[in-house]
Amino acid sequence: FNVTWDADAAEKEGYDHFMLKEIHEQPKGIYETLNRRLDDNGMIKLDGISLTKEELDRFNKVYIVACGTAYHAGLVGKFVIEKLAKIPVEIDVASEFRYRDPFVDDKTLFIAISQSGETLDTLAALREAKNKGARILSIVNVVGSSVARESDDVFYTWAGPEIAVASTKAYTTQLVCLYLIALYMGYTKGVVEDATYHKYIEELKAVPDKLREVLAQEEQIRNIAKELYKREQVFFIGRGLDSGVSYEGSLKLKEISYINSFAIAAGELKHGTIALIEQDTLVIALATQDRLFEKMLSNIQEVKARGAYVIGLAKENNREIEKQSNRVIYIPECMDEITPLLSVVPLQILAYDIAKLRGCDIDKPKNLAKSVTVE
Ligand code: G6P
Repeated sequence: FNVTWDADAAEKEGYDHFMLKEIHEQPKGIYETLNRRLDDNGMIKLDGISLTKEELDRFNKVYIVACGTAYHAGLVGKFVIEKLAKIPVEIDVASEFRYRDPFVDDKTLFIAISQSGETLDTLAALREAKNKGARILSIVNVVGSSVARESDDVFYTWAGPEIAVASTKAYTTQLVCLYLIALYMGYTKGVVEDATYHKYIEELKAVPDKLREVLAQEEQIRNIAKELYKREQVFFIGRGLDSGVSYEGSLKLKEISYINSFAIAAGELKHGTIALIEQDTLVIALATQDRLFEKMLSNIQEVKARGAYVIGLAKENNREIEKQSNRVIYIPECMDEITPLLSVVPLQILAYDIAKLRGCDIDKPKNLAKSVTVE
């Protein structure tokens, strides 16, 4: 009777890769991140973060800076903070921000987002903003990391250790922090009413269970991956929040499968990119926003008319998308504003399955590092 002990496999808890394990840990990570910040009445606890109404009223701008997947979380953050807190939000990748002499002063709330808290460009951007007098709030996963230490306040994600180079649960927990920050700011400033506040909190609390429903579609997503894995080019399109998620879905796919993948706001297609759509070109179309659904159907028609093979992604009641798409992936019904928490997950699974079918080294893709501490 032989017992073979493989520490690496044990850490993966039966999953083939850390990435897949981390994809499955998202309901728990989201639950934890919410739970640490909500009291029994659904009110947001800042626990030491000192953002008073006076301070919030003093800020005339929010600046979000990050790299990679964290930057994509920031795109959603910009949308929700502007919508809920009614304050202009600028966003930039850290490597651009730090060399641009941006407009930042003591009326700026600077939000750095970083899983590792060690990304050199993000850290340098934070220092630059601090020198200009900005208040620094960071969203970080690694406790005690450099970004956390150098910030005035830290909003931690409770994702747990993320090992795979391709970020998954860090992204969704960063989104949760951004929703909470946006809601807190709006509610404290008096621009978000009670009913709206509690509606968001209820919707957020329902996400872990809805995400389990998404994860239960793994087999179906794997079957789509089997059809697609030999492709060498993919386009992701979406509008509004879906365009931000498109960038993240496209990044996931290219970083682990090495497929040339490109994301674009669907309304921009006609200004150039549509020239690349021809017979059988693969287009992944995100259409989760009720408000923009009809517009997205027209964009899908545009690419279909040129022969594209379309994978649609929509809320489960928007069945109309089936007429325009070759395959459809559904997410559970929820309010438009929180769809990124659900819609990114099928894209993570699709990227994972495609990379696996292509025989790629999923947890350690070539040329990439988990944390980039050099320029
Ligand atoms: C690297 C990783 C990405 C990550 C980015 C930012 O490029 O491969 O997955 O999104 O750095 O990392 P951070 O730790 O600052 O979130």
